[in-house]
Amino acid sequence: MKNKNLISINDYSKEEMLRVLDLAEEFEKNPTQAILNGKVIATLFFEPSTRTRLSFESAVNRLGGKIIGFSDSSSSSATKGESLKDTIKTVSNYSDLIVMRHPIEGSARYASEVATVPVINAGDGANQHPTQTLLDLYSIRKTQDTLDNLNLFIVGDLKYGRTVHSLLMAMALFNATYYFISPKELSIPQEYKMFLDHLGLKYYEHTDFKDIISEADIMYVTRVQKERFSDPIEYEKTKNAYVLRNRMLQNTKSNLKILHPLPRVNEINTDVDDNAKAYYFTQALNGVYTRQAIISLILGLKN
Ligand code: CP
Repeated sequence: MKNKNLISINDYSKEEMLRVLDLAEEFEKNPTQAILNGKVIATLFFEPSTRTRLSFESAVNRLGGKIIGFSDSSSSSATKGESLKDTIKTVSNYSDLIVMRHPIEGSARYASEVATVPVINAGDGANQHPTQTLLDLYSIRKTQDTLDNLNLFIVGDLKYGRTVHSLLMAMALFNATYYFISPKELSIPQEYKMFLDHLGLKYYEHTDFKDIISEADIMYVTRVQKERFSDPIEYEKTKNAYVLRNRMLQNTKSNLKILHPLPRVNEINTDVDDNAKAYYFTQALNGVYTRQAIISLILGLKN
């Protein structure tokens, strides 16, 4: 995995994903180690972020590395018209690894083609968010003791949610059964259904989860992605499609965990937060250990 870009979750084999999870377990036990001494990591965020950027930066700081970059592209020379290519070539000269979030699908792949250091995709438009998926896998394995043969409910914006697209692909390696729950306007795109059809995996599409929630092992709730809508009226129609409330969890499996990549808006009521089945804040914490694992593998500091 040394020097390998991480742009799509498909860039990693099943064995590589499991290696990340095993190493993340080691970092969870011992998160402060000075293995990144002398290394500089660039975080280039052309879109807003709380968890992804700060957990990457926390991961680097706890490993003794240094961070450069920007959290708001308006403070970069992109506002003067500098191309992404020129920005990436320049930052390659200043750093050992680039972590980039960008609103355009395919931008991370393009960046990896012009960079002279490895690139990690921290989210490219509605396309992929592979490090989120690795922390999601870590969270699923930790709470279920397995990744295999689970009933995976994915709720909300399945059209624009990049975390959904990456997770769906990764869980295909573990024989998941998928329950896609969304308004019709935000249903899972055809290409992902074709991907699952090709693999012979089972999936079901629903517009509500109330009658089927008792089947779920993992309920992965997502926000409606306001920033991806070209028509604000369409966003208004779908923004409150689902609100998970504590009382809805009464007749659910004892192993059920509620995951959410966050940020949430209204889709999980705060009365769920104290339920032992709510796992989304610990899931975000797992992002630190998982990203420590990814960085140290790409930089060849662990193998
Ligand atoms: N899950 C996630 O990508 O969160 P941020 O947008 O806060 O980084």
